[in-house]
Amino acid sequence: MNIRPRRNRKSEAVRRMVEETKVTTDDFIFPLFLLEGANDKIEVDSMPGIYRLGLEKILKEIEVCLKLGINAFDVFPVVPEHYKDKAATKSFDPNFFYQKALKRIKSEFPEAAIMTDVALDPYNSDGHDGLVKNGEILNDETLEVLGKMALAQAEIGIDIIGPSDMMDGRVAYIREVLDDNGFTNVSIMSYTAKYASAFYGPFRDALDSAPKKGDKKTYQMNPANQREALIEADLDIEEGADFLMVKPALAYLDVIKLLKDNYAQPIAAYNVSGEYAMLKAAGMKGWLDYDRTMMETLLSIKRAGADVILTYHAKEFALLTKGK
Ligand code: PBG
Repeated sequence: MNIRPRRNRKSEAVRRMVEETKVTTDDFIFPLFLLEGANDKIEVDSMPGIYRLGLEKILKEIEVCLKLGINAFDVFPVVPEHYKDKAATKSFDPNFFYQKALKRIKSEFPEAAIMTDVALDPYNSDGHDGLVKNGEILNDETLEVLGKMALAQAEIGIDIIGPSDMMDGRVAYIREVLDDNGFTNVSIMSYTAKYASAFYGPFRDALDSAPKKGDKKTYQMNPANQREALIEADLDIEEGADFLMVKPALAYLDVIKLLKDNYAQPIAAYNVSGEYAMLKAAGMKGWLDYDRTMMETLLSIKRAGADVILTYHAKEFALLTKGK
């Protein structure tokens, strides 16, 4: 045998030398859930270790994470039911607690990259990402609200806008609104291939944002489809997206690879709430080694082609690898 692949696996030093993929905290965006009460802290039942935090607590958390090398955060609001309405008006109200909190976060940590979601579901009494009329999710009418929401976020100083709504034409619409108002430097990370997935369950628990009626299948993609992701990606590129995201990550590694092979833009993957919950639950039961399966999972997402990973594991990863 003159080829023995095991020679390159013979010691830790050699293994590390030939390692093809490395995950670091630079790759992460850490999703955070914001509560209205500034000092509140409530764990998400289906995501042990992940908390909904009030502004003061979130500021502390960001400070700790920055020290651990996590530089980017995606902040989602937990909107109490009485603020929700058909038109999702709080989504673009600069005096709402969410927008005010974002402003404070940006002023305390100008160096952090702050991302926000653009979709109606946390603010909308229907719990859908778009406006609902007679049971139908309206596309073009929704764009107007998305534009207002994105503009309100840009005015606060948000670095990356993340349209997660899956309406057609949203990236172009938002890009134009931002540019017309002088926000040419605000980035758009489009949720390009966002599937109608059951893995979002714990997130909807965290935000209490599940649809009141029906499902999201008329706008989010069918999990059976891969080529359709190319249609979405072509449109996003044409419309001016700076990043293409695939969501969820684990059951869609083929889609991450497909986009990576076809586009030069950075590819992001959202390692979603249900994926976090699966590992946590099995780890807590002692059925899996949580730390090792977490590392392996993140590695698989990067290996598939993700340049950026939105993950609830970000802080645990940072703590585990600190000093290594
Ligand atoms: C809102 C949104 C969702 C997630 C991110 N933005 C839920 C959904 O579309 O129903 C899911 C994130 C996760 O599960 O971690 N449109």
